[in-house]
Amino acid sequence: MRRPIIAGNWKMNNTIAETKALIADLIPLVKDAACDVVVCTPYTDLAAAVEATRGTNIKVGAENVHWAEKGAFTGEISAKMLVELGVEYVIIGHSERRQYFGETDETVNMRVKAALAAGLKPIICVGETLAERESGKTAEVVTRQTRAAFKDIDKDELDNIVIAYEPVWAIGTGKTATAEDANDTIKVIRDTMAELYCPKCAESRVRIQYGGSMNPKNASELMAMPEIDGGLIGGASLKAEDFSKVVNF
Ligand code: PGA
Repeated sequence: MRRPIIAGNWKMNNTIAETKALIADLIPLVKDAACDVVVCTPYTDLAAAVEATRGTNIKVGAENVHWAEKGAFTGEISAKMLVELGVEYVIIGHSERRQYFGETDETVNMRVKAALAAGLKPIICVGETLAERESGKTAEVVTRQTRAAFKDIDKDELDNIVIAYEPVWAIGTGKTATAEDANDTIKVIRDTMAELYCPKCAESRVRIQYGGSMNPKNASELMAMPEIDGGLIGGASLKAEDFSKVVNF
């Protein structure tokens, strides 16, 4: 069956010194985890994170990647640069990127392709805003985002991709989707993947996380839902003890 995956999304938090300290605290707390454990850090912390997690069960991810191999894109980072550092995962299309930095369904797809071509594992984020939810558009939005993200992505890549369903209104707000709502929307995403690929692939090879104010208190309830294969954890990933409690849900 699908192996759960819990990933921390540090966002714009932690210096190199803080990275070393947080990972040192985390290692003993998550060493027996029954799921994949990932920490996604700012670019400047990646080398330190890779070094600090060497030989442990913690994998490292970046929070974004550019779609071009190289070139005149001031301030951007390529997939090859991340691979060279020893980075394994990369978050793509986080709602903060979509809201504040002009990320579109199309650029998400371009980044996914570049990441896969270089051997990185994308964590692709989808999710509706509060206005979209209130106007009954949740299913339509996540379906559109999923279809666009996977445009021209080969079936063989499915094992290397994780989807994160993150309702925008639940991110950093302390509001969590109910476990049932999260499960229902993730089912919509899985059905979309079944249509795009095949029902068996969607069932056995597509891991879909929930994200949005997931924490030690609500993790076990969310993880008990049949469609939820893990979590993308923001705020609660910044403290070793909280993150480890989610990991050991
Ligand atoms: P949160 O963030 O856990 O702080 O709500 C989740 C995310 O944005 O990935």
